[in-house]
Amino acid sequence: MYGLDGKAVLVTGASGGIGAATVRKLVQAGANVYAGGRDGEKLDALATETGCTPHPFDLTSEDSIRDAVAGLELWGVVNCGGFGGELATPMDTDIAIFDKAIAINTRGALLVTKYASQAMVERGQGGSIVNVSSQAALVALSGHISYAASKAALDSITRVSALELGRYNIRVNSVNPTVVMTKMSAFYWGRPEIGEPFLSQMPLNRWATEDDIADPIVFLLGNGSAMITGVSLPIDGGFTAC
Ligand SMILES: NC(=O)c1ccc[n+]([C@@H]2O[C@H](COP(=O)([O-])OP(=O)(O)OC[C@H]3O[C@@H](n4cnc5c(N)ncnc54)[C@H](OP(=O)(O)O)[C@@H]3O)[C@@H](O)[C@H]2O)c1
Repeated sequence: MYGLDGKAVLVTGASGGIGAATVRKLVQAGANVYAGGRDGEKLDALATETGCTPHPFDLTSEDSIRDAVAGLELWGVVNCGGFGGELATPMDTDIAIFDKAIAINTRGALLVTKYASQAMVERGQGGSIVNVSSQAALVALSGHISYAASKAALDSITRVSALELGRYNIRVNSVNPTVVMTKMSAFYWGRPEIGEPFLSQMPLNRWATEDDIADPIVFLLGNGSAMITGVSLPIDGGFTAC
């Protein structure tokens, strides 16, 4: 159905919630999955569970990314590794946090795309890249100054990469999820005074699950989306449409 059988796909952030859910679905679809992240124990556990190949590397280091991506005969990439940053306004932001959000969410994803797409072009078999962005890139959310900037820049990378790589039959898309109630999200969105007004403005009126995000990632990676490139797809229960 997805045409991913036997295809090699790198998923960064595979030691996290959305990345691991994506790995599970890609393995079910028959892909050979390389699971990126830093936490080797979590990647080993995911490998035991799914049969994916642990592939740890650091998204803040160009050398680490180049070494990790070179030599993999990739057809697909999911740039899912990410850093949530801080809750701050433009008046009180810690610029070191801004730099870290850009380093991981934007620069890291661009470097993975750079080295992966070089190899994909060389192989000449096309491919597909999905960047895990955020609803925070599409609308203004309180307190999200650094994170939003890093993900909006990622959406720009998606569009320009789609333009540049289309001639090689490599598609590049973003998904822009709403909140998945992970530990990272709960300290903010789990507060009733923050979460309830937010959900009341969302037509589907619930938090997303990891699988809600992983399914559209697999769709955008595979053949069912063969004519789709350069989009930023909200997975947000309708929040950004209203
Ligand atoms: N959760 C949400 O509500 C939500 C909503 C919208 C978008 N997103 C985006 O979805 C993606 C996954 O989020 P999640 O909820 O699954 O988060 P998570 O569970 O915190 O996972 C984050 C992942 O990023 C990896 N990572 C962080 N820094 C890294 C670095 N320097 N080098 C390599 N890997 C690094 C982590 O690996 P290690 O732990 O092994 O270092 C982990 O695998 C992120 O890009 C996030 O911004 C999340």
